[in-house]
Amino acid sequence: MTIDQDKLMEFLHRFVGDLGATMAAGNVLVGDRLGFYRVLAERPMPPRELAERTGTATRYVDEWLRGQAAGGYVEYDPQAKTYSLTPEQAFALANPDGAVFMPGAFEFALGALRADQKVIDAFRTGAGVGWHEHDEEVFSGCERFFRPGYAAHLAADWLPALDGAVAKLEAGARVADVGCGHGASTTLMARAFPKSTFTGSDYHEDSIVQARKRTADAGLDGRVRFEVASAQTFEGGPYDLVTGFDCLHDMGDPVGAARHIREMLAPDGTWMVVEPYAGDNLTDNLNPVGRVYYSFSTFLCVPNALSQEGGYSLGAQAGEEAIRRVVTAAGYATFRRVAETPFNIVYEARP
Ligand SMILES: C[S@@+](CC[C@H](N)C(=O)[O-])C[C@H]1O[C@@H](n2cnc3c(N)ncnc32)[C@H](O)[C@@H]1O
Repeated sequence: MTIDQDKLMEFLHRFVGDLGATMAAGNVLVGDRLGFYRVLAERPMPPRELAERTGTATRYVDEWLRGQAAGGYVEYDPQAKTYSLTPEQAFALANPDGAVFMPGAFEFALGALRADQKVIDAFRTGAGVGWHEHDEEVFSGCERFFRPGYAAHLAADWLPALDGAVAKLEAGARVADVGCGHGASTTLMARAFPKSTFTGSDYHEDSIVQARKRTADAGLDGRVRFEVASAQTFEGGPYDLVTGFDCLHDMGDPVGAARHIREMLAPDGTWMVVEPYAGDNLTDNLNPVGRVYYSFSTFLCVPNALSQEGGYSLGAQAGEEAIRRVVTAAGYATFRRVAETPFNIVYEARP
């Protein structure tokens, strides 16, 4: 076998980038936890000042900053010997309430990777690994990664794309948010539509405990409640709107969930299905976003689905046709794609 040196160098170049990014993931978490990005966003400063402002040790901060600058996450001014964030870096790294929050994504990824041995064992046995068996940072990272996208798009684009849903929400609708995790989507909807009532549910008890805390903190008690229940068993219908954010593909029995949701919907109700952005063919997804999703899916989505009854494991790159098949099998009258972002596709199903 002859080795093409140019192709080898290209591949090694990619590998160095990936290896640096893998280690940098932990460093992003350090920067987030210790408040480095937040303080650096204020103005350029030398390592000593950043260390003093954050109550940390200068030598560590020095090394951290060098790695961040090498990776393009922080700027270095060799004349002034100061580090800073560009407005774009600050936008994505320093503001958990902005439209993109990169540290949340790295927290999610690092949390997922802690299950490496469980996942390796599962490859051998074919058994599942439930969402609840993962490290706590999976749950908080998921919330911190997903919430900004929901804050940017849910009330502004996604709900208005559904036929007649906003008018009902404004007048006072009954809403169920299944597979709600920490309830980021539930809370955002509750804030946007003060006349409506919301029931978030998730099979994972610890997530529901956190969701209840978030609601109490947000002063939404009374209009928002959370219950531990699977998407196949939640109660309290008829609902005007049922939502499911990034969870249908995680389920072992998505058709059972879809059927149950249909039973819980009012005759003129709507199910909003938010799923990862994906094409229908594998080759459509062989790109950076597909890589992110397939890699998360190997550690989280497929193992979770295999841990549940039902025989499905759609994975995080299911695509529109696979979701349509689930919805159609559950007997819905209509199904359509109503919105999308680089990370999500939003579908509307009516009973
Ligand atoms: C990727 S997380 C998304 C959480 C939340 N919807 C969000 O967008 O932040 C998937 C969620 O689906 C939940 N889940 C998995 N299988 C479920 C099932 N059969 N019924 C209800 N929830 C389920 C998990 O516990 C987890 O909270």
